[in-house]
Amino acid sequence: MKILGIETSCDETACAVVEDGVKVLSNVIASQIDIHAATGGVVPEVAAREHILKIVPVIEEALSKAGCDWDDIDAVAVTKGPGLISSLIIGTETASAISYLKDKPVISVHHIVGHVYANFLRADSGAEVEEADPEFPALILTVSGGHNEIILMRDHDDFTILGETRDDAAGEAFDKVARILGLGYPGGPVISKAAEYGDREAFKLPRSYLDQGSLDFSFSGLKTAVLNEVKAEAQRASGGAELGDYSQISAGLSEQFKADLAASFQEAVVDVLTDKLIQGFLNLLEEGTKIREIHLAGGVSANSRLREMLTSKVNDLIKNKHILDVRLRFPQNLTYCTDNAAMIAGAAYFLRDRAEKAPHNVTPTTSFDLF
Ligand code: KG4
Ligand code: ZN
Repeated sequence: MKILGIETSCDETACAVVEDGVKVLSNVIASQIDIHAATGGVVPEVAAREHILKIVPVIEEALSKAGCDWDDIDAVAVTKGPGLISSLIIGTETASAISYLKDKPVISVHHIVGHVYANFLRADSGAEVEEADPEFPALILTVSGGHNEIILMRDHDDFTILGETRDDAAGEAFDKVARILGLGYPGGPVISKAAEYGDREAFKLPRSYLDQGSLDFSFSGLKTAVLNEVKAEAQRASGGAELGDYSQISAGLSEQFKADLAASFQEAVVDVLTDKLIQGFLNLLEEGTKIREIHLAGGVSANSRLREMLTSKVNDLIKNKHILDVRLRFPQNLTYCTDNAAMIAGAAYFLRDRAEKAPHNVTPTTSFDLF
């Protein structure tokens, strides 16, 4: 079954064709990063206008790269939300138009559910990668710019949120700290690049674990601690002169200071994320639920320090708790971590019982309900 997926929830106009939920035939992404880098973040109006310009060429390219025409496509999948409403609407209106004009059923997919299914996509590098079928229950950490959850997935349409962020999501914290340090946008990749040259123990930054046993997250205190370190350093460097805005403050910082603070910040985020995920695994084990798979999903799952630390903590778990059959999954291809439409088409295949018959009109939503 071939599904054409459309994703326009934020600043990527994306379309993909995926066969049977896992085989990526094409995965086209028109990124707006260069446009939003100038403003240091996404301006919704600007993003929506770009989607309007890009959506039709991106769909045509995805069909052509997959070697398909409309007759080969069994259904259209689209991100219904959450996201920027003015961006989402370009995708949902396009999917509705396809449903009417090409007589295709429509499957609406929650953006975070899409990120979860990115883990089952097989790398589209040309090489056939043998990938095991999913085994449930799975415990998933979703970490992106807008969302941060720990999800228990008992089956394809059985998701329970066990923990979520009480303020900033991890990706948002990366973006804000990059801005404070004057490193650019988006923050994740630039912080992790700077961190390669930094000392992760240079600064003692707070790690917020909230109430005992809680799987919720909070990163705003950490962000404030970074800002305080930067202000103190800028004051020292300027001999106590009045400080201006972020760009003036960060201009006075040395590259080594930025690298050390980036590395210490990244370490604090990754430490809390991985500890909470392991805590979730152990809580469930105590209640009698044996997790078979642990996954990382969403933009921040591209972070190599996060992957490394989680792998090490899961290995410790295996050794110390004699847990033999737990498997780790990360998206196979880095482009499946950040926003893409292959994950939406992939999810739609497994959720195809929910397809709406053509012609169907999809309405976007900002609600967080997964289904
Ligand atoms: O999932 P995503 O593409 O969009 C949302 O659904 O929000 O995630 C984007 C977020 C951004 O905040 C970006 O800074 C972060 O993912 N990100 C990373 C890395 N690559 C992207 N964070 C840490 N390390 C990375 N390598
Ligand atoms: Zn996303």
